[in-house]
Amino acid sequence: MPQSLPHSQTISHRGETVSIVQLTDTHLCKMQGGTLLGMDTDHSLQAVIDLVKAERPAIDLLLGTGDLSDQGALEAYRRLQEYFAQLTEVNCWLPGNHDDRANMTAVVVDPLRLCREIRLGRWQVLMLDSQVPGEVGGELGAQELAQLEQALAAAAKDELYSLVCLHHQPIKIGCEWLDEQMVADAPAFFSVLDRFPGVRGVLWGHVHQQVDSLHGDIQLMATPSTCVQFAPGSAGFKADSAAPGYRWLELLPDGTLQTGVSRVEDVSFTVDLDSGGYL
Ligand SMILES: [Fe+2]
Repeated sequence: MPQSLPHSQTISHRGETVSIVQLTDTHLCKMQGGTLLGMDTDHSLQAVIDLVKAERPAIDLLLGTGDLSDQGALEAYRRLQEYFAQLTEVNCWLPGNHDDRANMTAVVVDPLRLCREIRLGRWQVLMLDSQVPGEVGGELGAQELAQLEQALAAAAKDELYSLVCLHHQPIKIGCEWLDEQMVADAPAFFSVLDRFPGVRGVLWGHVHQQVDSLHGDIQLMATPSTCVQFAPGSAGFKADSAAPGYRWLELLPDGTLQTGVSRVEDVSFTVDLDSGGYL
């Protein structure tokens, strides 16, 4: 069962807006230089981090939204901490289907790393757990949804805007093979969100491609992996030649959420485009 949501931290931010970077689906292997579909996931993550350094020199919070390791190895999480620290020690993780929650917990020292709520200025960032151990697809479950509602109610009371993060996609994205893995209880998830007008965005990983959509006034955002990409609109598994990347978000004090995706342009990567799958 997912851990409860009480772990909350309030952190400061530098300017008028809250600057966030999301890195997702890093798929680090046990050994440095391990590959996913032929791509060295350490090499691609470092290339994305170098891009973030060049484009976003001052960020308030770095989010890692699951599949941070490829097979849940302790060594992968240890290296991840070092990679993320190149950008900021203010980074927070949530698990994906490839992660091992016990090993993530064993590696981290700073409680911020796995905290479930971060408050910055006028914003609340929630880190949900959609992992179902042993399953590829995602589900939040009654307990997580109840805690989400509780956290959103507290934010509403404190007049905060909310950004809700999770690993799996809560909407169909047009890839049949991935849509089978979407959050199983997505209708219940959105019925909770719909009760709180302060919710401004939902942010996830898992699909290894960019999605920008809307649910009413709520911005829905999926982000490229820092390694292999999946082809948009494909019925079955299909890798894509698009480059690794990341998403930036600027959260304004009036509740406006500005966002965009940036991809590595000047580095060549190997990817096995003829692979039949990776799970
Ligand atoms: Fe992934």
